[in-house]
Amino acid sequence: MNERDSEAVAALLRDKGYSIVPEEVNADVILLNTCSVREQAEQKAIGKAGHLSARKRRNPNLIVGIMGCMAQNKGDTLVDKLPDLDLVIGTQKFHRVPDHLDNVIASLNGLGPKPATIIDIAEEKGSQNTIKSHVEDNPNVAAFVSIMQGCNMKCSYCIVPKTRGAERARPMNEIVDEIKTLVAKGTREVTLLGQIVNQYAVREFPFVDKKSPFVQLLEKVNAIEGIERIRFTSPHPVGFRDDLIECYTRLPKLCEYLHFPMQSGSNKILKAMRRPYSIERFKAIIDKIRAIRPDIYISTDIIVGFPGETEEDFEATRSAFEALKFDMAYVFKYSVRPGTSAEPEGDPISKETKEARNQVLLDILKQTSLERNQSLIGTAQEVLIEGPAKRGNGIFVGRTRGYRKVIVPASDRLVGALVSVKINEVTASTLTGDLIIAD
Ligand code: 5AD
Ligand code: SF4
Repeated sequence: MNERDSEAVAALLRDKGYSIVPEEVNADVILLNTCSVREQAEQKAIGKAGHLSARKRRNPNLIVGIMGCMAQNKGDTLVDKLPDLDLVIGTQKFHRVPDHLDNVIASLNGLGPKPATIIDIAEEKGSQNTIKSHVEDNPNVAAFVSIMQGCNMKCSYCIVPKTRGAERARPMNEIVDEIKTLVAKGTREVTLLGQIVNQYAVREFPFVDKKSPFVQLLEKVNAIEGIERIRFTSPHPVGFRDDLIECYTRLPKLCEYLHFPMQSGSNKILKAMRRPYSIERFKAIIDKIRAIRPDIYISTDIIVGFPGETEEDFEATRSAFEALKFDMAYVFKYSVRPGTSAEPEGDPISKETKEARNQVLLDILKQTSLERNQSLIGTAQEVLIEGPAKRGNGIFVGRTRGYRKVIVPASDRLVGALVSVKINEVTASTLTGDLIIAD
């Protein structure tokens, strides 16, 4: 989501005549987009902003701004720490960056009052409709499209409702139009983004034939000519009903891939996290999807070390994690976030215990993921070629429908094409193969 937001700001600036430089040292304006989900991410951003502030003291014409969740979360207290900042822009104000920059530049040129830090972190009605620009000269074969902003859930560990505000959906026709524009520029795959996508527009649009607004949107995107693949992230187990499950057989462009956050395998911890489902319900959803789509790839998010997580609770997570055979997972060590309802519980689980639990899950994941990849050796996989690999030399990167990264010798001509690749070698994270040329 942050990548998507950064891209939108970059596109707006590009339209105003700015250009994007590949090397940070050559930039006149540096904007940091920031994450607040864990403390570590904030520390990293503050460290980076500190370095930039020091550079700015040597070069007063350098413009430095902080955008996004940490700007929203910390607001003016950021300026107490980093008084040299030019801009602090909240999550509902990304589209205001070009105007604010105009003011900063005018004052640097002596055309305006001496600049104080511009802090713009208010809520703004309709801001969900502003994140739609894309950088034109670099069309992404696989693009992200925001369909909503904010979240109304109250997971006890999560800062997102505070930094991103209440759920606000974009109109369906605007999303469809944006995707059509992307297709015209070369996009073949879209990932629909939101904090809780299956709740998309539940308050704004009616259910039709028992289909949720999100399922209606998926149908519309599936009908767009030129789009080959659809993904979405992230859904919530609450409201993951049959109408959505059936999409995995009904909508051919919906990839057999699902990111499905479990968070914990212990019902006691799920309750403490204010995740309103049981592990049995979570498993039942996955069983249903696998029954109709046995080839699906499923990834998840897990938090280890939530306050009160005993060995027994972790064992419940471990065994569910093992039994569900996730193909990919993001495992996070719990981090206390200000203003969340779990904040008063503090952080009673030791760093060592969190680390050990983290490692147990990563070891299981490595094994499961490797086994799944090994089962692909010798098979032909449909791969969407996204672009040249970093190592260059005629080597390209693409993904399977299951979101597996594939390394394959190819050519520029094939960027944006769906090709067939025979898989020769695999690791837990990557497949390597050769193009199958049809004769
Ligand atoms: N500590 C650790 N992980 C967290 N996440 C959200 N908040 C926290 C926190 N306070 C994780 C969740 C979520 C993912 C995006 O980040 O697993 O799904
Ligand atoms: Fe955070 Fe829960 Fe909303 Fe996800 S559903 S963004 S974890 S509050």
